Amino acid sequence: MTAGQRPVVGPVTELARAKVNLHLHVTGRRADGYHLLDSLVVFADAADEVTAAGGEGMALSLGGPEAGSLAAEADNLVLRAGRLLAEMAGLDRPGAALRLEKRLPVASGIGGGSADAAAALRALARLWGVEIGPTQLAALALRLGADVPVCLASRPARMQGVGEVLSSAPVLPPFGLVLANPRISVATPRIFAARSGPFAPVAELPAGWKNAEEMAAALRGLRNDLEPPAIALCPPIAEVLGALSALPGALMARMSGSGATCFAIFPDAAAAARAAALLPQDWWRWGGSVRSAT
Ligand code: C5P
Repeated sequence: MTAGQRPVVGPVTELARAKVNLHLHVTGRRADGYHLLDSLVVFADAADEVTAAGGEGMALSLGGPEAGSLAAEADNLVLRAGRLLAEMAGLDRPGAALRLEKRLPVASGIGGGSADAAAALRALARLWGVEIGPTQLAALALRLGADVPVCLASRPARMQGVGEVLSSAPVLPPFGLVLANPRISVATPRIFAARSGPFAPVAELPAGWKNAEEMAAALRGLRNDLEPPAIALCPPIAEVLGALSALPGALMARMSGSGATCFAIFPDAAAAARAAALLPQDWWRWGGSVRSAT
């Protein structure tokens, strides 16, 4: 890798979109304890924002409605991403003033920290003019977390392995999405540890779905294997799923990742935005569209 690309002068901003697991099957377990997954992942228009500007040393400032719950975190993934990239690029005195505008709930199954780390990698590679190939960047991303590689491209993808095996998703129709979190954060390792039962692979997915209804019908035949242990450890998740399923126009509802954020699929973004407004005001809630493959 070289640092030969021309660095950008002004601040660089990258979106860290919410990652949503439309299904998530646990298909096995590696010797190191990590779980093998098969998951169809999409990215919502709901997003954190990472801005990188030139500076002395590496510093991170936080802002946005969800920043409060991050303040106590000694070692934010954004800073770890910056240090790792600088090390791989062989930069002597890497400098960046990083700003994280936190709008997604923390530790909530929609990849907030992973999406932030991926956005920081993209922003700093541009700011520093680091030339890094996609394979090397993906390997670096994986060192930060299993969900970071899929968040780099931030486009629909099928995710396998522990998160590092990425392939193209079926052709997705336009659809709307509601996200809801009861303002409870859950610890991912505890949810994985509490999972039980046999491992079951995902049946072959079709090349695509014609409309949201057809996609939702197929998704109803799949599941999130982390949903039962998450509900056992955090019963309010069942309430969120019930509320989402009852929204007018909802085609299916499920938990994302290890929770506690759940989602519902709608025929379009406008229906999703209207429905999100009907959820309890003390929940984090969002309704809108999803980024397509192109
Ligand atoms: O990689 P990440 O830091 O996001 O994972 C957090 C924890 O979740 C891991 O330490 C592990 O306990 C669990 N995990 C897992 N299998 C995965 C991803 C995460 O067991 N594929």
